[in-house]
Amino acid sequence: MFDSGFGGLTVARAVLDLLPTEHLVYVGDTGRYPWGPRPLGEVRDFARQITRFLLHHHGVKCVVVACNTASAAALDALRAEVDVPVLGVIEPGVRALVSATRNGRVGVIATVGTVASGAYQRAMAATGADVELTCAACPGFVEFVERGETTSDQVHVLAERLLAPVCRAGVDALLLGCTHYPFLARTISDVVGRDVVLVSSADETAFELEALLRATGLARAVAAGGASHRFLSSGDVAWFESLGRQMLGPELGPVEAVSWAR
Ligand code: DGL
Repeated sequence: MFDSGFGGLTVARAVLDLLPTEHLVYVGDTGRYPWGPRPLGEVRDFARQITRFLLHHHGVKCVVVACNTASAAALDALRAEVDVPVLGVIEPGVRALVSATRNGRVGVIATVGTVASGAYQRAMAATGADVELTCAACPGFVEFVERGETTSDQVHVLAERLLAPVCRAGVDALLLGCTHYPFLARTISDVVGRDVVLVSSADETAFELEALLRATGLARAVAAGGASHRFLSSGDVAWFESLGRQMLGPELGPVEAVSWAR
């Protein structure tokens, strides 16, 4: 599983809870975050590089792209290029969003790269659901999360400005279309109102992973012994360990450094 940084830990949490017998290797590419403002081609190259690393150095049986920006940029390419199943977070999130709305007006907030890619607009159209979708990019949110600043006045002021389009659209369900955003759920909910359901793709992605492992016979047997959980960061390892543990919980043990060949 990989993300640009801490965001994918929201997906990791859901996977650890649902699939406690599976081994997990998590790469947070904090040395190169944020990915959201970068050209999609560059994010695709990062995603390819990390996927190859997970396959060749860790022998993974399945890759979860725990990042919306990378899912938008690279999911199709990765699926065509590697021999193991590759899961993204966009389709699972859209499914959860469609089932959460009552008034048919839904919102997606995500990084600039994800919104500009049109991936959510396409995934929503593919469901055939009769809903009105409003998308809003939220530049700056990821940086607040990476600093561990999730409820400050500054993030609140930024949220009021960035969430204005979805508030105006009268959505009753809002998808947190960046895996970092669940860490800002309290601030986001304060701004959009408690009656708007906040949807995260983390649980839905974990359910999809469970179904896939079962269907392909790749699930690990309970009797096979304890599962290992490894966390790697390309940035400040001590910071990843301290903030990551607060975000994910005690499964986040010593963090290993990873660096990319140039
Ligand atoms: N967590 C990521 C996402 O879901 C990427 C955020 C970023 O690095 O900008 O889009």
